[in-house]
Formats: sequence, C-alpha cells, structure tokens
Amino acid sequence: MRTLALLFLAALMMGLSSCGGNEQKENKATEATQAVENAAEKTKEAATKAAEEVKEAANEVKEAASEAANEVKEAAQAATGKDGKTLFESNGCVACHKVDQKSIGPSLKEIAAAYQGKEQELIDFLKGKHEAIVDPAQFAVMQPNLEITKKMADEDVKAIADYILSVK
Ligand code: HEC
Repeated sequence: MRTLALLFLAALMMGLSSCGGNEQKENKATEATQAVENAAEKTKEAATKAAEEVKEAANEVKEAASEAANEVKEAAQAATGKDGKTLFESNGCVACHKVDQKSIGPSLKEIAAAYQGKEQELIDFLKGKHEAIVDPAQFAVMQPNLEITKKMADEDVKAIADYILSVK
C-alpha cells in the first residue's frame, strides 16, 4: 500500500513537472514570437523612416534642379535678349510707349487692358495680321514699327506680347 502511494506520488510529480515544462516551452515560444514581432515592427518603422528620408532627399534634389534650370533659363534670356522687356527697350518701342502714362503712343497699361485674354490677337497685330484696337486713328504713327516686329522670330514677338500683357 505504501509503495503504491509512493508510486502515485511520483507519477503525480512527474505529471506536474512535465506540465510545468510545457508551460515554460509555451512561454518561451510566446516570448520568441513577440521578439520576432517586435523586430519586424522595428524593421518596418526603420524602413518607413528611410523611405521618407529618401523621398525628402529626392524632393530636395528636384527643387534644386528646377531652381538651377530657372537660373539657366534666366541667364539664357539675359544673354540672348529674348526677354520681352529687353526686346521692347532695345527695339525703340519705349520711345513712344511708357508703362503707365500716354505719351506719343498709348501706355502699356492701356494696351494690356485692351488685349487682356487676347494674346494671339496682340501677336497677330505685331505681325501685321490684325488691325489696331487701342487707338486706330493714330495707327499711321505705329505702322512703321510693325516692320521691325514682323521680321522678328515668333518667340521674340511672343516675348514682347507676354511683357506687354504682364503690365498691370
Ligand atoms: C513712333 C512712336 C511709336 C513707336 C516707336 C512704337 N509705337 Fe506702338 N503705337 C504707337 C501709337 C501712336 C499707337 C496707337 C495707334 C494704334 O493703336 O495702333 C501704338 C500702338 C501700339 C500697340 C497697340 C495696337 C492696337 O491694337 O491698337 C501695340 C501693341 C504697340 N504699339 C506695340 C509697339 C511695339 C512692340 C513697338 C516697338 C517695336 C512700338 N509699338 C513702337 C506709337 C509707337
């Protein structure tokens, strides 16, 4: 009877200890899973951060490039005189057209107001293909100047038109 009780006790203890072992194993497995999950989370965060940094850097490069492109464009315009204002001044138009007051010809403000939203018509006028709309009675005074603008490259005429229309 004593031996039986001892055996029972031993069996019980084995059972208990093996049970505890399982629990430990399970705990370890949970810990490991959590560690893997944590690591994955950290990797994800790091990757997102890195991606954001790359994106920011790319934006900075893009901005710097477009700034540089603009500077090159401005420099090119200054060098070739393709800027409308420069063309307007270098071709003697300023002699009769002031920015905001009438002199021999109407002011640029007045011309710009008449041609607002009609850039193509302004270009056509300068190419001798459209009649005067601002002060037709004085057209004879303006007419000889069309010989200058008619000979200009399309982009130069457009530059002058852009400049006139930019005057507010
Ligand atoms: C000798 C003076 C004189 C010069 C130089 C001159 N203009 Fe004029 N311009 C006039 C007069 C006057 C008018 C008003 C008559 C008219 O509306 O066509 C006029 C009108 C204009 C108009 C308005 C046209 C419209 O629809 O009525 C434009 C645009 C213009 N000039 C551009 C120029 C440009 C560009 C130059 C230089 C290439 C220039 N002008 C040089 C006297 C001049």
